[in-house]
Amino acid sequence: MSATATTPPPGAVERAAGRRVLTGDRPTGRLHLGHYFGTLHNRVRLQDAGAETYLVIADYQVLTDRDTADRLAEHVGDLVLDYLAAGIDPGRTTVFAHSGVPALNQLLLPFLSLVSVAELGRNPTVKDEIAHSRQASVSGLMYTYPAHQAADILFCKADLVPVGQDQLPHLEVTRTIARRFNDRYGPVFPEPGALLSDAPLLPGTDGTKMSKSRGNAIPLAATADETARLIRRATTDADRDITYDPERRPGVSGLLALAALCLGRTPQDIAAEVGTAGAARLKRLVTEAVNEHFAPLRARRAELAADRAAVRTILRDGNARANELADATLREVRAAMGMRYT
Ligand code: TRP
Repeated sequence: MSATATTPPPGAVERAAGRRVLTGDRPTGRLHLGHYFGTLHNRVRLQDAGAETYLVIADYQVLTDRDTADRLAEHVGDLVLDYLAAGIDPGRTTVFAHSGVPALNQLLLPFLSLVSVAELGRNPTVKDEIAHSRQASVSGLMYTYPAHQAADILFCKADLVPVGQDQLPHLEVTRTIARRFNDRYGPVFPEPGALLSDAPLLPGTDGTKMSKSRGNAIPLAATADETARLIRRATTDADRDITYDPERRPGVSGLLALAALCLGRTPQDIAAEVGTAGAARLKRLVTEAVNEHFAPLRARRAELAADRAAVRTILRDGNARANELADATLREVRAAMGMRYT
């Protein structure tokens, strides 16, 4: 493993065996290499280590962003393909969509009664999203989505949630809701813990955090040519001597970090190898490293993409499994709340 390998703390993955783990993504298009090294790769490791894993495709959450909500079916299909290509095994991991699991969504109502408007309004991640949203006004859904995310996590009584730093406020809301529900109605929910990855953020081709909306992302499913084109356009600097210095040389260092992840070496080692050969040489090296590392995944994805019916079956099966759990949890919740009349 290289110095920049994106792993949770030593032993954390192994200790997750037998625990119930839920994570998810908004379906906003193809995943990129930042997603892969930051979270996807670890989800596959958790699955393979014997954790009971659930993946929510958060299609109701994506409604806070009108641009991506326009092509939902395509984005959901792409997300499932990226998961499968990366090694998510639908036999072991339940992949489902919000909209396919009605009882999950119904949990939102009692959950909303347990948090105040003020608490929802001061959630830093919500505030941040409002600040960056390109919408003319802020919808009510924006404020409720941390409580909805609590439903994602608690419907299956997950006890471990692998998240990035930005999602911690949401997990705190989930823990608060679980605690308040249990205090008021009796013990139903676990208070889930975070599995924080110590993954450094993978910079995009301009040296800042890789993100689709910044236009600096390399899609996981990019072709070799597309990858070469994106890396050729990456921002570097005029110094021909290649060194790893994330503070002063974010562009060059981001490329070195990416190559390091693909090659299992340290960025410093790769910098030393390129030496004074300059940015063009570095870019060729990075392109080859990415294309070689992801060739099997991309080939697998292309094969899977040819069979859209299989993708639909996987989602249908995942939704069915999630529905069983959600129905059982909702029955328990209604019983605890005294909502059994017939
Ligand atoms: N909010 C997460 C994101 O924007 C996606 C998500 C939805 C999620 N539900 C979740 C993550 C439950 C972890 C657990 O990436």
